[in-house]
Amino acid sequence: MPYRLTVLGTGYLGATHAACMAEMGFEVLGLDVDPGKIERLRRGELPIHEPGLEELLQRNLESGRLRFTTSYEEAAAFGDVHFICVGTPQMQGEYAADVSFLDAVVESLAPHLDRECLVVGKSTVPVGTAERLAEKLVRLSPAGMQVELAWNPEFLREGFAVQDTLRPDRIVMGVASERAEKVLRDVYAPLGEVPIVVTDFPTAELVKSAANAFLATKISFINAMAEMCEASGGDVRQLSQALSYDDRIGGRYLNAGLGFGGGCLPKDIRAFIARAEELGADRSLAFLREVDSINIRRRVRVVDLARELLGGSFDDRTVAVLGAAFKPNSDDIRDSPALDVAVTIAEQGGKVKVYDPAALGNARAAHPHLGYAESAFDAARDADVVLLLTEWQEFLALDPEELGATVAARNLIDGRNVLDAETWRCAGWNYRALGRP
Ligand code: UDX
Repeated sequence: MPYRLTVLGTGYLGATHAACMAEMGFEVLGLDVDPGKIERLRRGELPIHEPGLEELLQRNLESGRLRFTTSYEEAAAFGDVHFICVGTPQMQGEYAADVSFLDAVVESLAPHLDRECLVVGKSTVPVGTAERLAEKLVRLSPAGMQVELAWNPEFLREGFAVQDTLRPDRIVMGVASERAEKVLRDVYAPLGEVPIVVTDFPTAELVKSAANAFLATKISFINAMAEMCEASGGDVRQLSQALSYDDRIGGRYLNAGLGFGGGCLPKDIRAFIARAEELGADRSLAFLREVDSINIRRRVRVVDLARELLGGSFDDRTVAVLGAAFKPNSDDIRDSPALDVAVTIAEQGGKVKVYDPAALGNARAAHPHLGYAESAFDAARDADVVLLLTEWQEFLALDPEELGATVAARNLIDGRNVLDAETWRCAGWNYRALGRP
């Protein structure tokens, strides 16, 4: 009998995981405590913008393999394997992660677990959480030791969530028994040849934190080099290209610009720092504070550069902001560098007009006081400076002449180092980028 799966929490990770597991052939029951979210998912509507996922959701709803509920009792009765996919956001006013949603899932599910099953945590957590939850799970479950926990971190990127789930680089299985390992190997068997690393709980938890810390460090490293280029007249794009040919370094996550944002990298490195301090290992991760600072400094630099282009003040000046999502192909504005810049410029007196192909609704809801536009041209109309802050394909395709005809002044800051400087300069634009002359 194939396992029946539940996915507890249907946010970014959970909605993707549920649809992909159903696509792999499993019967899947998704659960969320938000009845509105469940209603939408039942209708085949995705609460987020993620290429390819809505089709997958609808196809598997139609096949009957994928269903949704708000009932823990139903989930417990249905599932042989329960995946926990709830969020672990940064705590208000602190670096540490808030793991209360995970505790809530275990406390709601466990009292209904009256037979053998495996509960699998996928959320990003401070190391030590799995061991604590494993004990709680057994203590609260009527089936006691027949219920077991495993930790199986998720590495998916927004915008590539389906691809990353169905064709992962690797699968990490933090397990406490051979039985748990076997169940997880069976569940992921339909994916075919994927490197699997079997570990204990702390290692599995640390792999995820370490992966995000490494990616953030790589981005901040190249942005620190951008600062060096700015100080010395070098060109960070050429520098990065030259580095990328060294296999030991590699070219990915080496794009200098406005830096990283989103719901993961910023809060995960902060949670990692906080956990290191709790464990008395603060020195080990002290460098991550600098990684965070470099990242934030890039936002300040864009604001300063824009003000400089406008002669020292934003007063009565119009600023077009292209991009609100933290990265292209996403409507996610969590810790978005682009919106952060827009908000700061508005606070400093600028008349900001923001346009984004997917994230306008979210941006409007979070920052109703900012000005918004319905297209890049609409945003650029009468602008004194144009800021390209999220590298959507449609911005890369903008025509310098056409855009130039709508603005008040041809000032452009390429916050993502994605436009061809020569083309824009030839069209009379005062083109500026981060880390380049
Ligand atoms: C990240 C990790 O990649 C993923 O493995 C983990 O599971 C969750 O966190 P995601 O938040 O979707 O995924 O974003 P990612 O594509 O990694 O980009 C993060 C940020 O870094 C974006 O703001 C992006 O614009 C920025 N970035 C990325 C750079 O500034 N330069 C780069 O070279 C690469």
